[in-house]
Amino acid sequence: MKALVLSGGSGTRLRPLTHTSPKQLVPVANKPVLYYVLEDIARAGITEVGIVVGDTAFEIHEAVGDGSKFGLHVTYLPQEKPLGLAHAVLIARDFLGDNDFVMYLGDSFVVDGIGGLLDEFRADRADARILLTRVPDPSVFGVAEVADDGRILGLEEKPARPKSNMAAVGVYLFTPVVHQAVRAIEPSRRGELEITHAIQWLIDTRHDVRSTVVHGYWKDTGDALGMLEANRFVLESVEPRSEGTVDADSEVVGRVRIEAGAQIRGSRVVGPAVIGCNTVISGSYIGPYTSIAENCQVQDTEIEYSIVLRDAHLDGVSRVKASLIGRNASVTPAPRNPASNRLILGDHSEVQISS
Ligand code: TTP
Repeated sequence: MKALVLSGGSGTRLRPLTHTSPKQLVPVANKPVLYYVLEDIARAGITEVGIVVGDTAFEIHEAVGDGSKFGLHVTYLPQEKPLGLAHAVLIARDFLGDNDFVMYLGDSFVVDGIGGLLDEFRADRADARILLTRVPDPSVFGVAEVADDGRILGLEEKPARPKSNMAAVGVYLFTPVVHQAVRAIEPSRRGELEITHAIQWLIDTRHDVRSTVVHGYWKDTGDALGMLEANRFVLESVEPRSEGTVDADSEVVGRVRIEAGAQIRGSRVVGPAVIGCNTVISGSYIGPYTSIAENCQVQDTEIEYSIVLRDAHLDGVSRVKASLIGRNASVTPAPRNPASNRLILGDHSEVQISS
């Protein structure tokens, strides 16, 4: 059994962060999403992993290396353009050989892991098995029509009129027959080779396609809300500990991890929260579900339910909530004219200002 991890793509929903860094490396509780994926694969006993990479190949390679820190052996598979999930399978043909494999989207967050799914697959060895979960708005996902015994009767990509509320969540198990399927299908209207079409081809050609339903938690971290929610979930069980310093004028309440060299001065930190290495928090309130990465400066600021990436600087900002702040970003009050907002934003930034 091998694993194919998809870490290319365009990442349009997470712009502007994805202009400078792949979305798979955006941190959740100060650890890149992709690391959770690779750890899950290693836990499931798989060691041979192919990572599909696009424009951000260099950054992914820098972060993962040869995979040995995860107990994995990683092969990089360059995809010239994000031409679809089934296209990623197409280009991985030589790496995958005639092995069964798990295809795992590099921005998917499956809390219960893939162990149970693999056990079911090994027990019945259907031609394909996909992970599904119930979602409130199925029309933005690949949606499955499922028989009572878990067999998939049909699968549609982002249907206008979904036949169920069961969506594919980014983990798929395949036997080598999928290689015929990805060669047989044509690009969709959006120009991509869709994995849902490949699976539908398997169904149409009388192959056995089954499903496992995730009852635990799952998140697509491909957009800001998904990121914040995954962060909230992981922080719920963060191990409280301090390797930094907290001065006598500060208060730290609840589950808070303070990483090495971090300093909390004259501040109140209410967990769950993580404060990264060498970050300085002074005169501030850090509220629940906040992850602040390394080397940040947070001064006279109130922030909660947010993710701050490394080297960011917040000074004198009264209330930041549900926010994603990129590397080296700086948020400060407008000088001299407190009633005005002065913005220097990267392309595709999104800002909501209190009015
Ligand atoms: P998506 O999130 O569906 O696509 P995207 O990365 O282009 O994002 P957006 O919709 O915001 O523009 O992709 C799911 C995962 O698969 C993600 O980790 C990127 C990866 N991927 C590839 O590696 N190759 C591809 O051709 C595509 C479409 C996605």
